Amino acid sequence: MTEEVIKIEDLKGYYRGSFGIVHAVDGVLLSVNKGDIMGIAGESGCGKTSLAELITGRPIQLLQHEGGQVYVNDLSMYGVDDEVIRKEILCKVMGYVPQASQNSLNPVKKIRNFILDAMRERVGTKPKNKEKVLNQVAEHFKKLGLEKSVMDKYPHELSGGMKQRVVVGISTLWNPLILIVDEPTSALDVTTQKLLIETFIHLKKIGIVETILFISHDIPVLAQICNKCVIMYAGRIVEKASMDDIINNPQHPYTKMLMFSIACFNPDGSAETKLEGIPGIPPDLKNPPKGCRFYPRCSSRLEKCKENYPPFFIPRTESNPVACWLYEEVGD
Ligand SMILES: Nc1ncnc2c1ncn2[C@@H]1O[C@H](COP(=O)(O)OP(=O)(O)OP(=O)(O)O)[C@@H](O)[C@H]1O
Ligand SMILES: [Mg+2]
Repeated sequence: MTEEVIKIEDLKGYYRGSFGIVHAVDGVLLSVNKGDIMGIAGESGCGKTSLAELITGRPIQLLQHEGGQVYVNDLSMYGVDDEVIRKEILCKVMGYVPQASQNSLNPVKKIRNFILDAMRERVGTKPKNKEKVLNQVAEHFKKLGLEKSVMDKYPHELSGGMKQRVVVGISTLWNPLILIVDEPTSALDVTTQKLLIETFIHLKKIGIVETILFISHDIPVLAQICNKCVIMYAGRIVEKASMDDIINNPQHPYTKMLMFSIACFNPDGSAETKLEGIPGIPPDLKNPPKGCRFYPRCSSRLEKCKENYPPFFIPRTESNPVACWLYEEVGD
């Protein structure tokens, strides 16, 4: 039986400030099952980071939870006290590696001191026996391919890949059931990306984490690790499918165009597909269109797409939900 570890129902989160209201996440519906490595993909600004922040139950400043629910292991993240989230959920149940978090390492602190600070902040008290705790951390770091000597280094003495492993190491210290990683590979070269991806696979294989939400705008990166993938566009999810179907059998017009815009090279250096960009730009999320948000850029648009946002439909030959009126005829 599949076990739903994250359930998201009509989730809405907006940034509110002097700049106005940005509808960053605007009605997201999603289920993540135990054991999945689910990719979240989409163009820059489509709301991937905002969605991750909202899933943690306590999003960054300015991003406000406006409606809907997030259940993590059946616990409503917006129905419990901050203390429960901090003590019971974050770290132990859910580890989170925010976008660009390798830059959050304190430049004037050795990694060992940064770890002790992070532990105090997350657990609420200082570890009593520092050396014992740091030895345990070093053992954990070994599983991520980090030498013990890393503990005595300053961030500037580490490569980008090593810094990223350190932040992943800290976020997985408590063996969280779920790990959310936001663009963990985007600042790394291709070889280092591959090594980091192998590290995530290893962490899952040895049971440190069970389920991973892997956010990236880079579909070839997601293809290396994910079994499922959702595509976001302008604050909403437009398609949910297996990773294989997203790449080889996309259904939503946006997903299709996204796949056509990916460079895919054969070993002999020739391009496998003709590269095509997506014409137009995504809508302004301060004033999103009423109907389908992809309508202005869609070559398959129907008249009704302009006024009405499509619910999820299941194409006849598929089992993957697609938010597109083209599939209305074949049932929902
Ligand atoms: N602090 C903020 N204040 C106001 N608007 C914001 C803020 N952070 C993000 N946004 C806006 O919210 C929307 C979603 O942004 P978000 O960062 O979630 O997208 P993303 O998919 O993670 O993009 P990227 O791939 O570039 O990381 C965008 O329109 C963005 O401009
Ligand atoms: Mg982001």
